[in-house]
Amino acid sequence: TWTIGNIAEDQIERVRQQIGDHRAICALSGGVDSAVAAAIVAKAIGDRLTCVYVDHGLMRKNESVAIEKAFRESTGAELKIVDAEKEFLDALAGVTDPEEKRKIIGREFIRCFERAEVEILGDSDEKVAFLVQGTLYPDVVESGGGAGTSNIKSHHNVGGLPEDLEFELVEPLRELFKDEVRAVGSQLGLPDEIVQRQPFPGPGLGIRIIGEVTKDRLDILREADAIAREEMTKAGLDRDIWQMPVVLLADVRSVGVQGDGRTYGHPVVLRPVTSEDAMTADWARLPYDVMERISTRITNEVSEINRVTVDITSKPPGTIEWE
Ligand code: XMP
Repeated sequence: TWTIGNIAEDQIERVRQQIGDHRAICALSGGVDSAVAAAIVAKAIGDRLTCVYVDHGLMRKNESVAIEKAFRESTGAELKIVDAEKEFLDALAGVTDPEEKRKIIGREFIRCFERAEVEILGDSDEKVAFLVQGTLYPDVVESGGGAGTSNIKSHHNVGGLPEDLEFELVEPLRELFKDEVRAVGSQLGLPDEIVQRQPFPGPGLGIRIIGEVTKDRLDILREADAIAREEMTKAGLDRDIWQMPVVLLADVRSVGVQGDGRTYGHPVVLRPVTSEDAMTADWARLPYDVMERISTRITNEVSEINRVTVDITSKPPGTIEWE
């Protein structure tokens, strides 16, 4: 019979046969798919797998540390952290166009992987022959069963790997749906923190700041986003809501009043959605008391933000992210 337990065993065995005694590399995005794929391959080939996690400075508050810790503890896999905040922010300086931002972020990811590969190999004359990807069944279907990467994921860090690296792909989740991937992840001992994680885009907060991306603006957004996420978790809404981007309208200011004084700050937008697969989405009817707590806390605790708004547009016509 077809159970989650033997799906995992079966995939581990298949990966073992595919890779043999070669080396593999896996780009961890922090998301559930790449983490589960990595966990399967780690069980199959042990320390001949190196996972690479690029910290581009566009992650949410405490996120990189939490992902690193949770992943290391639960898989024991070799994990290489590439600290590339400066490179990413320098490359993004002065850029406001969303597509331009995405291209720059994709390009910087490529550079990080190239550097990581060189470091992993050191002086050895071995090659990293295999690349692990967390491609799911819906991705395969959307791409017509071809290369295994869909349009939605074309911006993803893995999708941006240079073609001339000539890796053979290892895709142990190719036949699975998201809920099965989560079940396999739990079976392999990954914590809920990873397995139940809501989707978060590869370009991170870089596409949630409308206007130029700077360190200061990222810090403001990180604070607001952390408050929103904390209140959503406290209200027990994490499983009901597909995801809730918080977007900083960094190029917009509005007049407000706080204490005795006039303020001239920035708005943030809450973008809570429900969805089955992110192809379409409905705006989520958040409880008023939860919205109230988020609004009060953000405007009290983040001095640069003086207005909190809620996006009530479905997809279509709006996309989930603002950029
Ligand atoms: P949109 O904004 O197109 O987003 O409605 C659909 C889903 O995809 C996520 N998303 C991305 N994920 N790299 C990713 O890995 C990206 O560049 C990217 N852009 C959007 C988004 O968060 C939502 O879940």
